[in-house]
Amino acid sequence: MVADGESRLAHPTRVDVHAHFYPLMTRKEAASLGLGQSTPWLRDNGDGTGHMMVGEHEYRPVEAPLWDPASRIAEMDRHGVAVQVMSATPMLFAYAAEPKRALRWSAWINDLAAGMAETDPVRLRTLCQVPLQDVDAACVEVRRARETGHVGVHIGNHVCGRNLDDPELVRFLHCCADEGMAVLVHPWDMMAGERMVKYMLKWLVGMPAETHLAILSLILSGAFERLPAHLRICFTHGGGNFAQQLGRVDNAWRRRDIVRADCPKPPSSYVDRFSVDSAVFEDATLGFLVGVMGEDRVMLGSDYPFPLGELEPGELVAASSNLSAEAKAKVAGGNAARFFGLGPLPGTGE
Ligand code: CO
Repeated sequence: MVADGESRLAHPTRVDVHAHFYPLMTRKEAASLGLGQSTPWLRDNGDGTGHMMVGEHEYRPVEAPLWDPASRIAEMDRHGVAVQVMSATPMLFAYAAEPKRALRWSAWINDLAAGMAETDPVRLRTLCQVPLQDVDAACVEVRRARETGHVGVHIGNHVCGRNLDDPELVRFLHCCADEGMAVLVHPWDMMAGERMVKYMLKWLVGMPAETHLAILSLILSGAFERLPAHLRICFTHGGGNFAQQLGRVDNAWRRRDIVRADCPKPPSSYVDRFSVDSAVFEDATLGFLVGVMGEDRVMLGSDYPFPLGELEPGELVAASSNLSAEAKAKVAGGNAARFFGLGPLPGTGE
């Protein structure tokens, strides 16, 4: 049913751009890809629960929607989420592996993701992963993934000690722009882990800092000056600390030549070159974020289905006291539809 303009604004279609999957794979299957003893795999306990595994080690208990597309769609119905743009759990990146093996691993994960999406190809859209440690191989897999229906690529915010301004990683972003593949950047392998062993500090401090570092790497290196304007790139977790600290960075750019050495324009002038998701969990913070980024550059992202994610994906946006009805419609789904080229969005089933 096609909604009229007014009800479309009252009940905007929700597209969740930060939603993880972890494909079902036995230890034997995972090991056959040759990543060694600590290969991640998934144990299905057969009762709707399972475990993310690393070798013999139980990494985290999980539930069926993480790997089972039918349970996932049932939860999306309960949450009123029309479409998910799914990305693999970052522990599956395999960036430390030998490149040829990492390419075979990524292709395998990508094909499993495409298989999950076949359950409902309109509501489940997928981002591929790539062997980012070898940019030639990564570009090959991005091209193949586009041809097999993936709508973009999901990458970590650094690889092998290199930030996103590394010339090879900038070359990869060029390749994504050339292929017309959107990029979702997720923090992983958090800095200073030895000082963040308790209280999930790697998630609470490390992740927002990693994402801030990734965005500033692209801005202050002048990479955005060289990358084409049609590159579509989005950072998760509301862009981490970026928006909150932008005034500090602009001030430093004005005051110190070593800050602006490679960046010809004030850092804040680059906010129209990337997007962020809405996973900030607090009404005033969401209003602030949309104020900094603009209402066209924030997209609903929940971090589904993990415990630190938004439990009712899209409720923060829907209940916002700071966004107009039009801004809510854009953030809830309109921006994502355009960003990922999703075509017409489905209704939510009423
Ligand atoms: Co996430």
